[in-house]
Amino acid sequence: MTPEDPNRVLLFDTTLRDGEQSPGISLNTAEKLEIAQQLTRLGVDIIEAGFPIASPGDFDAVRTIAREVEGPVICGLARANASDIDRAWEAIRDSERPRIHTFLSTSDIHIEHQLQSTREDVKGLARASVAQAKALCDDVEYSPMDATRSDIEFTAEVVQIALDEGATTINIADTVGYATPDEYAAFLTRLYALVPDLHGVVLSTHCHDDLGLAVANSIAGVQAGARQIECAVNGIGERAGNAALEELIMLLHTRRAHLGYTTGAVTTEIARTSRLVSRLTGYAVQPNKAIVGRNAFAHESGIHQDGVLKERSTYEIMDARSVGLDANSLVLGKHSGRAALRQALEDLGYTIDGAQLKQAFERFKEVADRKKQVTALDLEALVTDELRADVQGYSLEWFEVEASNRRPPHATVAVRTPQDTVLEGSFTGDGPVDAIFRAINSATGIDARLREFRVDAVTGGQDALGEVSVVVELGAPEEAVKSDTPGVLTGARVTGAGQAVATDIIEAAAIAYVRALGNAVNKARAVLSEAELAQTP
Ligand code: KIV
Ligand code: ZN
Repeated sequence: MTPEDPNRVLLFDTTLRDGEQSPGISLNTAEKLEIAQQLTRLGVDIIEAGFPIASPGDFDAVRTIAREVEGPVICGLARANASDIDRAWEAIRDSERPRIHTFLSTSDIHIEHQLQSTREDVKGLARASVAQAKALCDDVEYSPMDATRSDIEFTAEVVQIALDEGATTINIADTVGYATPDEYAAFLTRLYALVPDLHGVVLSTHCHDDLGLAVANSIAGVQAGARQIECAVNGIGERAGNAALEELIMLLHTRRAHLGYTTGAVTTEIARTSRLVSRLTGYAVQPNKAIVGRNAFAHESGIHQDGVLKERSTYEIMDARSVGLDANSLVLGKHSGRAALRQALEDLGYTIDGAQLKQAFERFKEVADRKKQVTALDLEALVTDELRADVQGYSLEWFEVEASNRRPPHATVAVRTPQDTVLEGSFTGDGPVDAIFRAINSATGIDARLREFRVDAVTGGQDALGEVSVVVELGAPEEAVKSDTPGVLTGARVTGAGQAVATDIIEAAAIAYVRALGNAVNKARAVLSEAELAQTP
């Protein structure tokens, strides 16, 4: 995939693969599909939809995205072995534009300690895996993992092998976020000199943010000749994360006169993409985060405010509207009808009809009855909340909580199980939220511990919708999945995340907790069946 314009930079989004590897994130297929569709609206060129061999859930999500998302290239990740590559191909083959991305470390640290192999073996494996991928798919990307800590002459040999076998993109991974911009650029420049064939394919950057340099390194890579940037929304990913997609887009856009590169991004979709990913992953965006933080366009000091009032350009280098930060307008009121809701949702990019519209309308009415104004941000929050509803198999039927500062709060809850039975439980806790969470444990018989709990408001104002994120850890995963082979999971830490939106934050907390519990149980079940499979002779 080489664009006509030599200065066009391809955006390769790995939110659903590297981003999803962040601790505590567990997206279901519907959520991943929604993110992929939003990335398409944002105009990314390639979506790395997941790591198909990692789990049946990953496979299903990648295949669904490959079948349903039109426009971008859909990429599946595979280690350099035959079963990974076959599985990746199975998952992406129905896409109109499939890509297999295979990777293998070239650094001696990885070869010796992790792969426990030799440079010769790495060359052989790289050759075999790229050849296998190429026999299945025209579009093949190869990444020398930990490239920036590798001997460059050896990396060049492996890259040449990948090119000889037909790789169409070569991705230089700064896997541990160690390089500085000048080193990263020099690495790429030298690689071009050692492997002239690289001029015939796309060179790509993949930079981690351990030293806070992911975006700077990626841009240095582009200046050295790379024309694909791998990045993730809100910069999520392993450890400190990946280069932030929104920062890269706005850097290339705002400083275009200086840098001279273009992308296919629709910048006004940035804010919505960021909110969607934050909401579905449960990863909050820090208020001062560049481009998408709550304060990214807010001026606090009197001197700055004075300057902006007189002339925007005194303290503003970008217009908030250019990243889509004007979505907080009032769109609907208490008396708005179904057609108005449908239109408002369509304006937000969600086309729904029939039963879905009916359900969304009921939800909207509930909120509109309690809240004076329903903004675009509220609607967005409600629609994303609907995506999560009950997919994990557990749902909250009702709850009651008695709270006072004169005696410990007491909660009773009813939870519907995946087997469609309704279980009740009660608990007297330290606070109303604690009482509810423990009452849910008591109802379901699942021993879970709260690991993270966060409450945010979707918009400002007293009647704002509350958004709650919860991460739980299962105390006894085997018990939770009612395994008949106890012990397989012993020692494994299984966590699950859940989010919910409601006008009442206690209700949002209870729903988020039930969802987190369901996610954790599903994860434990998947780990268990993999362990059972591994034990099968
Ligand atoms: O960081 C890394 O090296 C990766 C590879 C799979 C490209 O994510
Ligand atoms: Zn990575």
